[in-house]
Amino acid sequence: MRIVIPGGSGQVGRVLARHFHAQGHSVTVLSRDPQPAPWHVATWDGVTPGDWITHLEQSDVCINLAGRSVNCRYYPANRRAIRESRVRSTLLLHRVIASLSHPPPLWINAGTATIYRHALDRPMDEAHGELGGSEPGAPDTWNFSIDVAKAWEEAFFSTPTPRTRKVATRSAITFSPDRGGAFDVLLGLVRHGLGGRHGSGDQFVSWVHDADFARAIDLLIAREEFTGVVNLASPNPLRNADFIRALREAWGARFALPAPAWLIEVGAFFMRTESELVLKSRRVVPGRLLSAGFQFVFPEWPTAARDLVARWRQAS
Ligand SMILES: NC(=O)c1ccc[n+]([C@@H]2O[C@H](COP(=O)([O-])OP(=O)(O)OC[C@H]3O[C@@H](n4cnc5c(N)ncnc54)[C@H](OP(=O)(O)O)[C@@H]3O)[C@@H](O)[C@H]2O)c1
Repeated sequence: MRIVIPGGSGQVGRVLARHFHAQGHSVTVLSRDPQPAPWHVATWDGVTPGDWITHLEQSDVCINLAGRSVNCRYYPANRRAIRESRVRSTLLLHRVIASLSHPPPLWINAGTATIYRHALDRPMDEAHGELGGSEPGAPDTWNFSIDVAKAWEEAFFSTPTPRTRKVATRSAITFSPDRGGAFDVLLGLVRHGLGGRHGSGDQFVSWVHDADFARAIDLLIAREEFTGVVNLASPNPLRNADFIRALREAWGARFALPAPAWLIEVGAFFMRTESELVLKSRRVVPGRLLSAGFQFVFPEWPTAARDLVARWRQAS
């Protein structure tokens, strides 16, 4: 297959490009700042059509991952960039795909499981999950992330693409052992004795192992019945305290300091990130994948954590 991945130079893009490249598919990543890679990397700016559109002509799949990282303080300029980079690149791809003689028959657009409400009470699947909104008492940063997630999906689904099937993924945090990724950062806390629960530790963590993430994308490609939104998360989200304990055990850490909510707010400020990323309860489950018979290789966090730690160690 010919697979084009706009925004594929980041953490998730590397997981997918590696996966498809290893299977012998032709992979083209679109980047604003192309760097050498084992697959093809072409230049685009995420704003205007250019020579890059030739890569989409007669391609088999477009997987759009472009978006300014959310791992930053939500100052007004960052908020604008987070929202615009996602909405604008999605609308641009709409224009380009509509203009092609042979557009890709499938377009998968990244989205986020953060679109669901802060959920402690029950799991959120695609059929019965409740989207977040202006929940009373919810911090402004939580509502901002939900608004972006909704605007992103709206930009994707607002215009029909009769020749192209469309799937928006609502992904949980995707863990791979790559340096600089989310797992690397979390493991860094554990390695430095800071692997205690975050806040009350009661909030749920939704996650997905990189191997299952890539295999789930394979399924979305293979099965035409998939259109619309699909949750991409392991079937077993768990409470933050249990999540972090399993990671500690996988690493072999003997002790850890818990981080109360106030300390996380202070720490997040100095780490130039937002506490929402660890304090909001994400209890998202992959209803559609399970109904389609998808078998997770890593359905439970303790096994996934041991595998990720082992691969992280191998890479060091
Ligand atoms: N990581 C997760 O666990 C996770 C979970 C849920 C959803 N997602 C979503 O999945 C997508 C990929 O995630 P990721 O972790 O791989 O993100 P990432 O590492 O931040 O990579 C995203 C890529 O988007 C491109 N980009 C950044 N700002 C841009 C802009 N203003 N215009 C156009 N492109 C821009 C960058 O590529 P260049 O600099 O090369 O152009 C970057 O490599 C993101 O949209 C993210 O929100 C990720």
